[in-house]
Amino acid sequence: VIKYLESAQYLRPDQLIGFFEGWPHPPSTARHLDILKAAHRVVLAVDSDNNRVVGFVNAISDGIQSAYIPLLEVLPEYRKRGIAAELVKRLVDQYRNLYMIDLVCDENLRPFYARLGFRPHTAMMIRNFDRQAGE
Ligand SMILES: CC(C)(COP(=O)(O)OP(=O)(O)OC[C@H]1O[C@@H](n2cnc3c(N)ncnc32)[C@H](O)[C@@H]1OP(=O)(O)O)[C@@H](O)C(=O)NCCC(=O)NCCS
Repeated sequence: VIKYLESAQYLRPDQLIGFFEGWPHPPSTARHLDILKAAHRVVLAVDSDNNRVVGFVNAISDGIQSAYIPLLEVLPEYRKRGIAAELVKRLVDQYRNLYMIDLVCDENLRPFYARLGFRPHTAMMIRNFDRQAGE
């Protein structure tokens, strides 16, 4: 059974193993936990059989006008059962009174986000790859 939590307060780093698939310099589980705790909002999907976090989404925000969603990931063995959609829905619902909720995604995920109410726009970005692990 998957349960959804809206706080990382009581999480331990060992519950966060397996994320950042394919990242050349992924954050450690401890750094991942720091990221979740520092976020304005998070939604976590937890497998209640083993207490593992199997999916997460985070957001940074001023809490007044705008929010940005930097990260969304579901562990490979838990994909394709609607967990990511549920995470994003719950996050967007927390921000229903804001003016803008933005994210950047690859082209192939546009239909996924479009089903959740997002529409396409262009984005600009800076990526300091030597800072990817957040150390
Ligand atoms: C994208 C991701 C979060 C989806 O998680 P999920 O729990 O499987 O998503 P859901 O079950 O809610 O929805 C599945 C839908 O996502 C879309 N999707 C997921 N990966 C996709 C891909 N590589 N290409 C196109 N669509 C994709 C499809 O529309 C899929 O629908 P389908 O099952 O009918 O094919 C997951 O694949 C993941 O963690 N990927 C790696 C990290 C990543 O890309 N994050 C997004 C950052 S913007």
